[in-house]
Amino acid sequence: MHALCGMERAASGTALAHVFAGIAFPYGDVQARWQLVLDDPSAEVIVDELDGQLVGYAAYGDGWLRHFGVVPEHWGSGRAQALYAAVLERATAAGSPTSHLWVLVDNHRAHAFYRRLGWHDTDVREQETFPPYPLKTQLNRPLSGDQRSIAADLSLSEQRHVSVRGAV
Ligand SMILES: CC(C)(COP(=O)(O)OP(=O)(O)OC[C@H]1O[C@@H](n2cnc3c(N)ncnc32)[C@H](O)[C@@H]1OP(=O)(O)O)[C@@H](O)C(=O)NCCC(=O)NCCS
Repeated sequence: MHALCGMERAASGTALAHVFAGIAFPYGDVQARWQLVLDDPSAEVIVDELDGQLVGYAAYGDGWLRHFGVVPEHWGSGRAQALYAAVLERATAAGSPTSHLWVLVDNHRAHAFYRRLGWHDTDVREQETFPPYPLKTQLNRPLSGDQRSIAADLSLSEQRHVSVRGAV
């Protein structure tokens, strides 16, 4: 739990520095959301490990991508894309392909990332529950084509993904 929250703080704290300017990162809320995921038997958590260090995290289930990120040191490296491919592959194999997610409206890098991967914005908006109560938007992904081959195209051969539940 501590490791997952730490990675999310590093990733989101950097990506959303302009949103949380002058405001403490909502660590308690993030921790509570991870607890919900870890307590939910329909949710899966995988982490990306590099040289014994955890560098990426993903939580998904019931068609939703619930947490996703890579620590800033590895942005632009392709690791996020490969982690995303692992999510797609595992969720599809489990019979519940990932096709919805929430992302803050002002998370520009994440929007560019998901857009490139075929996600599109919807007009579903909600305000976050923590200060400064930023707006989030729902992105959807069409479920068509051969998801497994898309996932294979994106994956990095040296990447190691580990399923976790409560241990990190
Ligand atoms: C979202 C995330 C996983 C993407 O991983 P990444 O390694 O940064 O992604 P990439 O570098 O492959 O792609 C990022 C895209 O954003 C673009 N980009 C970079 N900085 C940007 C900025 N400030 N504004 C807009 N776009 C930007 C890049 O050019 C690239 O777009 P392209 O594919 O059209 O060239 C990663 O940035 C992250 O962990 N962010 C923090 C956590 C987060 O926001 N998670 C998503 C919550 S739903």
